[in-house]
Amino acid sequence: MSDRLVDPHYLSGVQYASDSNLSARQAIYRFQQPLIRSSAWALDLAQLDGEERILDAGCGNGLHLAELGRRGHRGAVCGMDLSNGMLTAARVRSAAALLVGDAQSLPFLDASFDCVLAMHMLYHVPDRDAAIAEFRRVLRPGGVALALTNSRRHLAELNEMVGSVLYEINGTDPASLRAYLRFSSESGETELRRHFATVVRNDVESTLVVTDAEAIVAYVASMGSVARAQSGRRIMQEVERRTRAVIDREGAFRIRTEVGCFVCR
Ligand SMILES: C[S@@+](CC[C@H](N)C(=O)[O-])C[C@H]1O[C@@H](n2cnc3c(N)ncnc32)[C@H](O)[C@@H]1O
Repeated sequence: MSDRLVDPHYLSGVQYASDSNLSARQAIYRFQQPLIRSSAWALDLAQLDGEERILDAGCGNGLHLAELGRRGHRGAVCGMDLSNGMLTAARVRSAAALLVGDAQSLPFLDASFDCVLAMHMLYHVPDRDAAIAEFRRVLRPGGVALALTNSRRHLAELNEMVGSVLYEINGTDPASLRAYLRFSSESGETELRRHFATVVRNDVESTLVVTDAEAIVAYVASMGSVARAQSGRRIMQEVERRTRAVIDREGAFRIRTEVGCFVCR
C-alpha cells in the first residue's frame, strides 16, 4: 500500500494542501439516495448535551465543525489539522478555535475535552496507536470519542471499475489507492479497544445514484495518485469512457456507500 497516504508532507503539502480534493469527494454525496448526512448521523451517536468541550482532530474543511455550529453547540470547540490550507477552508464554515497540529502528539493537557472526533482521519496517521492513546489522554474520564471511517465495501462498484482500469493500463494494485483499508469499519475496533473500555460500532449504508459522469471523473481525479500515476491521462480518459457507458446504458452509475462510526468510552 502506498506510504504517501500516511506521509505528513504529502498530506499537508499536496493532497490536503487546500480543500479542493476533499471538496470534490464530498460533492459526490449529492447523488446519495437516501441522503445520509454522515456528520449529523455520527454526532447523534455521541448523545451530546451541547455543553461539551470538543476536539475535532483532523477537522479538514470543517464539515463536523459546521454541523456543531448548526446545532448551536455551546461548549468550546477546537478544530485541529495537519494542514493549514484545510484550516483556511474550515474558517469559512466555523467560528471554532483552529490550530495546526498532529494527532500523534496533541498539544493539550490531560482530560481537556469531553468529546474527541476522529472523523475519516485515522487511516492517514502513521502511528495510529499513538494517536488513539492521545485521544484517550486528552479526554476526561467518562468522555466519548467518535472514530468515523469507511467499510472495505464502501464505493465497491467505483473501486472495481477504477481498479480494473488501473490494472489493465499500468498494472497498479488498486488497493494501494484506498487509504481507509488501513483503518476500516471492519478493522478499527481492535485498535480502539487497546485504549477504550467500550467500543461500539455503528454502520450506515446507502447508494450513490450518479447521473453526471463529471462527478465521478472529479472524484477519481481528486485522489491525485490516479491522475499522477504512470499513464494518468489515459487512465482518466478510460475512467470517463466507462462511466459514460454505464450511465448511457443504465441511466445512472450506482455505487454503494458504507461507513462505520465507533463510539468509544
Ligand atoms: C479525509 S480528510 C477528513 C476531514 C474531516 N475530518 C472530515 O471528516 O470531513 C483527513 C484530514 O485529516 C488530516 N490529517 C491527516 N493526518 C493527520 C494527523 N496526523 N493529525 C491531524 N490531522 C491529520 C488531513 O490533513 C485531512 O484534513
